[in-house]
Amino acid sequence: MTRTLIRARLLTFHREPQTPDDTGAFTYIEDGALLVEGGMIRAMGGASTIKAEGAQIIDHRPHLLMPGFIDTHLHFPQTQVIASWAAELLDWLNDYTFPEETRYADPALCATMAGAFLDRLTDHGTTTAVAYASVHASSADALFAEAHKRNMRLITGKVMMDRNAPDALCDTPQSSYDDSKALIARWHGVGRLGYAITPRFAITSTPAQLEAAQSLAAEHPDCHIQTHLSENHAEIALSCQLYPDATDYTDIYARYGLLRENSLLGHCIHLSDREIWALADAGAKPVFCPTSNLFLGSGLFNDAKLRAAGLTNGIATDIGGGTSYSLLTTLAEGYKVLQLQGQRLHPYRAFDWITRGNAEALGLADRIGTLDPGTEADFVVLDARATQAMAQRMDRARGLADELFTLQVMGCDRAVVQTYVAGQQQKPL
Ligand code: GUN
Ligand code: ZN
Repeated sequence: MTRTLIRARLLTFHREPQTPDDTGAFTYIEDGALLVEGGMIRAMGGASTIKAEGAQIIDHRPHLLMPGFIDTHLHFPQTQVIASWAAELLDWLNDYTFPEETRYADPALCATMAGAFLDRLTDHGTTTAVAYASVHASSADALFAEAHKRNMRLITGKVMMDRNAPDALCDTPQSSYDDSKALIARWHGVGRLGYAITPRFAITSTPAQLEAAQSLAAEHPDCHIQTHLSENHAEIALSCQLYPDATDYTDIYARYGLLRENSLLGHCIHLSDREIWALADAGAKPVFCPTSNLFLGSGLFNDAKLRAAGLTNGIATDIGGGTSYSLLTTLAEGYKVLQLQGQRLHPYRAFDWITRGNAEALGLADRIGTLDPGTEADFVVLDARATQAMAQRMDRARGLADELFTLQVMGCDRAVVQTYVAGQQQKPL
């Protein structure tokens, strides 16, 4: 088995930083080294302390190496929907997104786009993703197969949707149950893959289909569940109209047993206090999608309020409502969304969030999200001087926090020097 010693400046978080002075929340090593073997991190520390006789050496100095970014919500079949001009969510879905997703009935397109999609993720430093496939089982098959080939950690699921969409994009309660069940049997727990039971949202599922999702969820407690919740006002009104017995939008999912610790709920913008407490009781995970929320004009995610209720929030790109694959750009827009609400996203917390924090939201913090020995060797190498504008800003940097904030506010894929998935470099040299 090849052993590789990677030299760089190293940064890894142990817990969420509480204040800008909370330097105990992370380890930063100026002259660091990582020993990687068999896709795992074997050792991490100062370069002089790591014994690595016979190891291949890769030297990324002076760049900064940290755990790979984790994207907790995006859509595989929306790669070519980004930047579609629409008034708001429901128009955007009907006019661009649903027509595009019908194309994923073609397994050849799915196979081609699966490779392109995973390339885009790693180009941008993302090493783990939780993605919606299309309604077609073959789209989930293609994405799983491609991720497996690359030994990449990926969670996905075929979307369940049986109404309020073009016929070509509708399954049935029974077929969605059968297809999801077969995909779980084929892929869940295979290598680094996991299945997410994926009812798209209440508008596109009949009560009978949410019952099917409920059965799947009960039969597979270790599968994630992903759906959308409380993204915009028209969506909320229609959802409540379609489920008149439910107390509110959140209660629709609660009634069908879809709220639990491994439930990922995209958006969660306009929740009432009752809904926030219901999510907190269930331990479900809201997911903040800032570029999407700004692009579609959906609203401002209230991170502090949800956290005060004890919720653990994920952060994600939501491609293709989102406008960038970059979790750096996502942090930049997240910073602005919070700033508008008098909340501040310090770079220590920001970089913890897209690494260890998102891993914790997924229940995977023992495997990904840090540089801890014994975890999977997924990481990203960053250059805060990647552009002239960034280099000029960096000439005034006073330390690590300034470097991270430059990456957070000005960074994109140009700042990603290299991405490692299970110890293997993903970007062409
Ligand atoms: N709600 C239901 N489907 C979608 C989707 O594809 N994108 C977004 N942003 N919201 C949704
Ligand atoms: Zn989404």
